[in-house]
Amino acid sequence: MNPPAAGSNVYVSRRVPETVEHELRASFDLEIHDSLTPPSRERLLDKIGGRDGVVTMLTDRVDEEFLDAAGSDLRVVANYAVGYNNIDVASATQRGVLVTNTPDVLRDATAELTVAMILSAARRIDEGDRLVRRREPWIWAPTFMLGRDLRDATLGIVGLGSIGTRVAELASAFGLHVIHSSRSRFDPRYERVSLGRLLTVSDVISLHCPLTPDTHHLIGVQELRLLKPQAILVNTGRGPLVDEVALAEALAENRIGAAALDVYEHEPHVTERLLDLENVLLVPHLGSATEATRLAMGALCVSALRQVLVDRAVPANAVNPEAVAL
Ligand code: DGY
Repeated sequence: MNPPAAGSNVYVSRRVPETVEHELRASFDLEIHDSLTPPSRERLLDKIGGRDGVVTMLTDRVDEEFLDAAGSDLRVVANYAVGYNNIDVASATQRGVLVTNTPDVLRDATAELTVAMILSAARRIDEGDRLVRRREPWIWAPTFMLGRDLRDATLGIVGLGSIGTRVAELASAFGLHVIHSSRSRFDPRYERVSLGRLLTVSDVISLHCPLTPDTHHLIGVQELRLLKPQAILVNTGRGPLVDEVALAEALAENRIGAAALDVYEHEPHVTERLLDLENVLLVPHLGSATEATRLAMGALCVSALRQVLVDRAVPANAVNPEAVAL
């Protein structure tokens, strides 16, 4: 790795918590796109030219075009997310650009939101909330708005990584029996089954695997047919894991019980048909959205940038350490 330029130059593509901005300013010549919404693609490409480092969001596409626009000074792309399916890592590696993500620190927040969504879908909390707000007449009755018990139900985890494992632990406290389908993970607490069996026997299915070409539409028309009629599908991973049109159809035809989505196939666009259905909970990608978690994610980005640009080190959270021969 060449020595870092004095006063490395960093661009951040979205407003970040104040403390994170302060930390970045202390170490770098910084420019921030200070907004809750992203810069246009044109502006982003213009702004990253000549930077040593860029902090990207999961909504920024880092591809050949991005890397060309940034130019040969670029050493590190720090993604403010654990998932990095928005980044063409192979191209970055080829150009000697390190890519970092934010593993582990968002495990609890994302797992907690997942469990909240499972509870809400099972007990129809969001549906009840909408009913009350519509000012519809209602009164307690033995058969009014019945949901499903979680004790002794089966939870199928697809992707038993750190978030999936935490969801399994929390769900176990509610008496759910947990199974999973990860071929690469072994955890003596949870039975491993094939994906087909998981989809067939689970009462709740929760997706936690990364989005890759292999997992795109992992849950499509065929897979949805395997689900129990009362099954609840929860996705706090990445939208394209699920064929959203097929899911909307299955929900509209009541072929499955319910779905709870924090992520969308064409985010932030939500398939129109879903918006009119009562049996789906729609959350605007809030998995890691707690103050402490977003600070911790920011701290990982800051430390990755410092390690690469100031210390000339490869951070532990680099997803392509091979990009740099020190
Ligand atoms: C991530 O970090 O990948 C999450 O989806 C952000 O909430």
